[in-house]
Amino acid sequence: MTRAEENLSMMSKEKAIECAEEALLHVYNRYQIILDHGDGMYLYDSEGKKYLDFCAGIAVFALGYNNERFNNAVKAQVDKLVHTSNYYYNMPAIAAANALSMLTGLDKVFFTNSGTEAIEGAIKSARKYAYNKDGRTDHEIIAMNHSFHGRSMGALSVTGNPHYQEAFKPLIGGVKFAQFNNLDSVKELVTDRTCAIILEPVQGEGGIYPATEEFLQGVRKICDENDILLIFDEIQCGMGRTGRMFACENYGVKPDIMTVAKALGCGLPIGAFVCNKKAAALVAGDHGSTYGGNPLVCAAANAVFEIYQDEKILKNVRETGDYLFKKLEELKEEIPQIVDHRGVGLIQGLEFNEPVGPIVAEAINSGLILISAGANTIRFIPPLIAKPEHVDEMLEIFKKCLWML
Ligand SMILES: Cc1ncc(COP(=O)(O)O)c(C=O)c1O
Repeated sequence: MTRAEENLSMMSKEKAIECAEEALLHVYNRYQIILDHGDGMYLYDSEGKKYLDFCAGIAVFALGYNNERFNNAVKAQVDKLVHTSNYYYNMPAIAAANALSMLTGLDKVFFTNSGTEAIEGAIKSARKYAYNKDGRTDHEIIAMNHSFHGRSMGALSVTGNPHYQEAFKPLIGGVKFAQFNNLDSVKELVTDRTCAIILEPVQGEGGIYPATEEFLQGVRKICDENDILLIFDEIQCGMGRTGRMFACENYGVKPDIMTVAKALGCGLPIGAFVCNKKAAALVAGDHGSTYGGNPLVCAAANAVFEIYQDEKILKNVRETGDYLFKKLEELKEEIPQIVDHRGVGLIQGLEFNEPVGPIVAEAINSGLILISAGANTIRFIPPLIAKPEHVDEMLEIFKKCLWML
């Protein structure tokens, strides 16, 4: 612990939060807890209170906290080499790129530091592909209403939520929004300038809406017929969350470009966009990142891949996900305020007929970390090691919270 951290740890929680609010830009309405450490499915705050975690740092920490194999892999890399630059090769990045291209079935990987940056790279790839074809600089992208792709200007421009966009206009041009799961609304927007269609196979932030098979296959067909690149944002729904490595595998549909992040590094900041040969249009000088794909974050990703395989994480997601599905269906029947239940694997949502903020706050008070997706939907995105007994424990607390409100 540094001296500054030690000084803070002597303060009361309230005083430390006061310091936080003085120093940090207030772009989050934070809950009044300071999380300190974790173990498996549980987190502990600075006062020792235990929380069952059904949020996983927003679909990030898949392996359970304090995972020994993951920690050891990261520690070993810290002692060896943390950063070089992308002007040189490093072994962890080579291994991680090979694994990602094998798992996605795509060809070329670019590592980023976040999901948002993966989206930026995907947008640039699509524009460059179209530019190479016709030399025009007025290409268009079709994105979906209620999507979420990140907060930087490019990612924000394809995010179908006017609330996030309004104050930051003008955004990047040429973006049109279709209705998710409505193929006709996509067809209507296609022009000879459309270079890409971007969507999440399961919309996360927008309220846990899985695509229909008809929609995903139909969008693939539109892209094939019009030489448009299909971009799947698997940042939240990928890396095993639906019970398959990537959500699009549930539909038998392959994108031209896939974006990945969150559980890829299980907390170390790494994302990627992965292109097939056709979409790999960026060349030397077109794109770059100082940190992207450094040895440390890639060692973390390699550990994640290995642990997924050895500990049969996907099988666990399918089993626990089915159990969660059954239990949430039962709850929907029991509680009249619940109007819908959606999702698959360990990315499920319960929509209420009113805002769920007070339920989430009550759950956190009661030792259960939950998160919403949109105003009226509770999102269940636990670490992917969750077992049916954790679902039971979660439901016991959750039901009490519903009763108290
Ligand atoms: C589907 C999706 N795309 C992109 C992002 C942005 O990722 P990041 O916050 O790592 O930049 C998110 C984050 O929640 C996301 O859920």
